[in-house]
Amino acid sequence: MLSLSVNGQSYPVDVPDDMPLLWVLRDVIGLTGTKFGCGIAQCGACTVHVDGQAVRSCVLPVGSLGNKAITTIEAVGNTPSGQKIQQAWLDVDVVQCGYCQSGQIMSAAALLQRTPNPNDADIDAAMSGNICRCGTYVRIRAAIKQAATGRPELLQTIVSAPEGASS
Ligand code: FES
Ligand code: FES
Repeated sequence: MLSLSVNGQSYPVDVPDDMPLLWVLRDVIGLTGTKFGCGIAQCGACTVHVDGQAVRSCVLPVGSLGNKAITTIEAVGNTPSGQKIQQAWLDVDVVQCGYCQSGQIMSAAALLQRTPNPNDADIDAAMSGNICRCGTYVRIRAAIKQAATGRPELLQTIVSAPEGASS
């Protein structure tokens, strides 16, 4: 029997040590906000935090976690960086189909936690492993910058004038 610390609660789980964390979160504990995409650490849909670091839960054996603190999309809004990121996501209207977005938010919140004012290279490095089939990348970048600076004028970077219109 393992004991996992998830979102501030302790969960006893009777699972094999090599079961990936994603399966335990979704199928054993019942936290389904974290998504399955590729299952091979290539898409980022399954991203959660372990001791504040963004990790791919689809390839992380639960037996390796010990007492480390796991945070999922269901609770990231309780952290200062997660709260800022989620509000910016709403303000910028990032989401399209939504499937990738819990992973995107978890990666962005971890970035903001360690780098409060990220530049483009920081954002690229942190977010390049999170794939969005709907192509929300420009809005994700704008939302991260807005969360960091609190300046809504960054929205202008994604609202361009109609073609042929004079400025
Ligand atoms: S499902 Fe884990 S990275 Fe794709
Ligand atoms: S919002 Fe649809 S895959 Fe990203």
